[in-house]
Amino acid sequence: MKYAWLLLLVWSALFGAEVVEVGERFQHSQSCKACHLQIVQEWEDSWHAKSHYENDEYLRASIDYVSRKTRKSLNAVKVECATCHNPRISVTQTGMDYEIMAVMELDKGSKVNKALKSDAISEGINCVVCHNIEMIHDEADTSKRGINRVEWTKSGTMAGPYPDAKSPYHKTQQRDFMSTNPDKLCFVCHANDRSSEGFVFTDMQSEFVAGDKKCVDCHMSPKKIGVAATLKLDNGKSKQREIREHSFAGAHTQTLWRDALSLDLKQEGKDLLLTISNPQPHNIPSGFGAREILIELSYKKGAEALEIKTISLTNQYISKRGKATIPHLAESSTKDATIPAQGKKALKVANVIGATSVDVTLYYRLVNDEVRTMLELKEPIWSEKSFITSGSMKLK
Ligand code: HEC
Ligand code: HEC
Ligand code: HEC
Ligand code: HEC
Ligand code: HEC
Repeated sequence: MKYAWLLLLVWSALFGAEVVEVGERFQHSQSCKACHLQIVQEWEDSWHAKSHYENDEYLRASIDYVSRKTRKSLNAVKVECATCHNPRISVTQTGMDYEIMAVMELDKGSKVNKALKSDAISEGINCVVCHNIEMIHDEADTSKRGINRVEWTKSGTMAGPYPDAKSPYHKTQQRDFMSTNPDKLCFVCHANDRSSEGFVFTDMQSEFVAGDKKCVDCHMSPKKIGVAATLKLDNGKSKQREIREHSFAGAHTQTLWRDALSLDLKQEGKDLLLTISNPQPHNIPSGFGAREILIELSYKKGAEALEIKTISLTNQYISKRGKATIPHLAESSTKDATIPAQGKKALKVANVIGATSVDVTLYYRLVNDEVRTMLELKEPIWSEKSFITSGSMKLK
């Protein structure tokens, strides 16, 4: 027994991701404001900034649920999820030794507890996550993500897009994943998200259709002229640069869903043929599991409403015991319900007898009914419907 523990300890030391401590001066976005105010404010509104147990209800409820169902300590699960959600954490793995301490409530002053409480991770995916990457191990196994896929720069060195940037506050260095190949940076985390059973429930990397647009073109902004730093360096002026917005806007921003998909309607005898096309280079829904598309069909006879049908496109996640569960505990899921990248999905729906017209509306929802109920999510954003597109047709 003693030796088994020893083995575990040695194993953690060998395979845990390398940690580089971030100096106090660089830990928080607050210290970048003096010269990069605009960027900090844009990032603050993004969900990258909310990626922490305390700041995202859905993340918190999922972590609680995984801990309860797997009987692992809450902190061990938090450390696991930190791999991508809080990558500047100072403890990257926990073992049986920690589980025993946690059960005996001897973990109060432990490294794990300190790491999780630390201010250094409270900002989630902040400046010193993306800009302190020295290199990305693209050759690594596809399952290795987040902290297991990167090496960090020395504290105080910022990787960025420019070969000639000079700053009095920090060192700078250019990296390809900040300039020519930024998709590589996004795929450090936005790929191969898998459950405790090894089931991959999201993989943006394998479904992505590479074209002329990169992730940053749509989820930051197209390049535009502006200043990267407001500090006046060039003869009393700030340097003009090509920059992008740090908005990272996505699924939580309702206005972005408008026209993200398109809809085509046709009558085929007693059926309505509904074709949904996805012009985006990745599947929709994609991203996190349990996202949903709702199709509402409202049938009318003249001006009189006859019937409303609702169809849900979402996946159901099944545990190894064959029960409904959340993506992170799934062994499998029902058939993929997403609309493929730059592809289509066609559905046939029987018309309501007597109807003379139908209005069809597509909506998006962050969490489907099943998972929302399981996790008892309270905040309205998880169930709100974002409008995507609509269409109408006269029926014969
Ligand atoms: C999710 C990753 C990510 C995070 C988090 C992030 N950045 Fe960036 N940042 C990028 C990428 C990618 C670029 C390169 C954009 C380009 O020019 O194509 C960039 C560019 C920059 C630039 C150069 C100017 C520009 O807009 O291109 C500065 C300065 C910068 N970031 C500062 C910050 C600061 C300060 C924070 C924290 C508030 C931050 N970044 C957070 C990914 C990130
Ligand atoms: C005292 C001012 C100042 C502070 C504070 C500051 N920076 Fe900078 N930063 C600059 C200047 C100046 C540049 C160069 C701008 C240029 O060349 O256009 C720069 C450039 C950058 C770049 C681009 C580097 C490249 O090679 O492309 C990044 C990334 C960056 N800063 C991140 C940060 C982060 C993160 C923080 C906070 C931890 C921070 N900066 C704090 C002044 C500052
Ligand atoms: C270190 C891991 C990591 C990296 C690198 C990363 N992301 Fe993220 N990203 C996340 C996590 C985790 C979330 C979910 C946060 C949450 O909702 O709590 C997220 C959320 C998002 C969202 C969803 C926002 C919303 O409102 O739904 C978008 C869009 C996004 N990231 C784009 C990008 C782009 C573009 C890049 C590359 C420039 C990138 N990310 C790099 C981990 C990462
Ligand atoms: C041509 C523009 C475009 C490109 C390129 C693009 N996306 Fe998207 N993405 C969208 C649109 C539109 C949506 C749906 C509305 C929204 O969430 O912004 C979306 C949604 C998302 C979502 C939420 C998905 C969901 O179903 O919940 C994530 C996460 C995301 N994108 C990440 C990425 C990453 C990572 C890349 C690069 C591999 C990328 N996107 C490339 C346009 C794009
Ligand atoms: C491989 C990296 C990775 C790991 C490890 C990871 N996540 Fe995530 N997670 C992401 C990314 C990227 C997103 C954003 C996807 C999107 O918005 O569509 C995300 C989003 C989420 C969301 C949705 C948040 C929201 O606001 O909608 C939840 C919930 C979540 N993760 C839970 C967890 C839990 C629980 C764990 C640990 C058991 C975990 N994640 C581990 C990458 C990861």
